Amino acid sequence: MLAKVIVVYESKYGNTKRVAETIIAGMNEIEEVEAVLKEPKHVDPTEVLDYDLILIGSPNHVGGPTRGVKKFIDKLGKIELEGKMGAVFDTYLGGDFNKAVRKMEKRIDEKVPGLKLITSGLSIRVKGFTGPIVEDDLPKCRDFGKKLANQLKT
Ligand SMILES: Cc1cc2nc3c(=O)[nH]c(=O)nc-3n(C[C@H](O)[C@H](O)[C@H](O)COP(=O)(O)O)c2cc1C
Repeated sequence: MLAKVIVVYESKYGNTKRVAETIIAGMNEIEEVEAVLKEPKHVDPTEVLDYDLILIGSPNHVGGPTRGVKKFIDKLGKIELEGKMGAVFDTYLGGDFNKAVRKMEKRIDEKVPGLKLITSGLSIRVKGFTGPIVEDDLPKCRDFGKKLANQLKT
């Protein structure tokens, strides 16, 4: 089965985008997936119905996801997503490990109960506001992708 994956992300400086791409590369190591990467402003929420897995990624901006990502999650809440799988990821500078991820997960639990989060979110550290990604964290993106692909198979 060729799984279809949509990654909806925002990325001011490109680091969160790189995380998204590396997750997909990891997935492809396990099983070939058909992936599209899109910014929320270019996604019609009903579009996600065409995909098996919905990944949502955001840089940490002031202790949480971006406004665009929050709005996107709220829009997902208005469509029937029963049975769809999802997972979230963030990038952060320091001290805020997991914070945007936790907030996205909480928002999804509250507003998009039909979306089943199949793993706890991935949080990736950057060295400065503009990056780059901390060396030790890059393999975590690939491993996260592999884990997701394995879960899609089961
Ligand atoms: C407006 C703004 C607010 C930010 N606030 C935080 C913050 O509260 N905590 C944190 O760890 N990083 C913070 N950062 C750093 C971002 O997390 C970092 O720029 C981001 O991970 C880089 O990802 P990107 O290249 O995809 O934009 C902030 C960055 C911006 C631009």
